[in-house]
Amino acid sequence: MNKKTVKDIDVSGKKVLVRCDFNVPLDENKNITDTTRIVAALPTIKYLLENNAKVILCSHLGRPKGEFNMEYSLAPVAKELSNQLGFEVKLAKDVTGEDAHNLANNLKDGEAILLENVRFDPREEKNDDTLSEEFASLADIYVNDAFGACHRAHASTAGVAKYLPSACGFLMEKELKVLGGALDNPRRPFVAILGGKKVSDKIGVIDSLLDKVDTLLIGGGMAYTFFKAQGRNVGNSICEEDKLDLALSLLEKAKQKGVKLLLPVDNNLGKEFSNDTESMIVKSTEIPDEWEGLDIGPETIELYKKELQNAKTVLWNGPIGVFELDKFAVGTMEIAKFLANLDDCTTIIGGGDSVAAVAKAGLSDKMTHISTGGGASLEFIEGKALPGIECIENKD
Ligand code: 3PG
Repeated sequence: MNKKTVKDIDVSGKKVLVRCDFNVPLDENKNITDTTRIVAALPTIKYLLENNAKVILCSHLGRPKGEFNMEYSLAPVAKELSNQLGFEVKLAKDVTGEDAHNLANNLKDGEAILLENVRFDPREEKNDDTLSEEFASLADIYVNDAFGACHRAHASTAGVAKYLPSACGFLMEKELKVLGGALDNPRRPFVAILGGKKVSDKIGVIDSLLDKVDTLLIGGGMAYTFFKAQGRNVGNSICEEDKLDLALSLLEKAKQKGVKLLLPVDNNLGKEFSNDTESMIVKSTEIPDEWEGLDIGPETIELYKKELQNAKTVLWNGPIGVFELDKFAVGTMEIAKFLANLDDCTTIIGGGDSVAAVAKAGLSDKMTHISTGGGASLEFIEGKALPGIECIENKD
């Protein structure tokens, strides 16, 4: 990685604005239900505190659409940060206003504050220079550690870097090293598992992975679009009729590239999208009308395990069944367990719902890397230029 990191700059006594991705899930009582993104940001924050920086944290939370709306306040995050760090992390009442400036100006070395949700300001998502300048006026240095938001060209994720010396945090560095390393120079065999509902969400990802992997295992709702494209009946399964040609062209590309692209050979079907529904296992060539494919079947699980057995790198993005419903979580859970027990294999869970699935299986700590990016991971895998990374200064 050619970008500067916090270790490349002298932070002692400096005010450092750190963009994190604290976009965490909350329950109806505003309790954080998954602190992964906060915990993942701690190494950078602690490093800065230990090196006597004055730390000004900022993030978005949800999509408040440019309006000050306490539903989206970062108060629960400030509380969790205080718990994690063992001192009070004060929350500013505004983003770049008077309170933010007062708190920032009163910071002592080794202390941290948090600004209110950057998306309360309508200029944030417009990447408005006036807001970027206001962010810059709060600090001496800008650090971007928000991998999960690095695909957004917003004032706090990119624009502000025009006005301050900049560097990546450790989380950003780790994401780029692990994901980038797997994509650029994987240990082989390199197997990707792709799931999720729609082919259309993953076109760029599939296309890009076909240039890099040895084997591609497809699961989830998107499999049914491939089946339909091959002229099979898919019953009531989710299917993108307007993506059939695209599915065929991806199958053709796999053939040309010599990539082994596998589709499920059997499926667990339900009559309805529910845990109490009737279900049955059928071959992929025999899906009847009025039934819906909700998980891969046992033969497919065995087939996919065989492909994964000798893999040296596995990248997984998207659940391969409806894992939220226990009845149809078997395929996803079995594959998660199998990956957790693979020897000498780099296992990367590439963001979004597959991360939630692995967490549900209680196996997160058994994987080499769990990405904190959802959309960001997808765009990174696609090979797109990401504004939150591009904006950071290169090493000399
Ligand atoms: C995410 O949760 O994927 C990131 O925080 C980005 O959020 P956004 O899609 O609202 O920009």
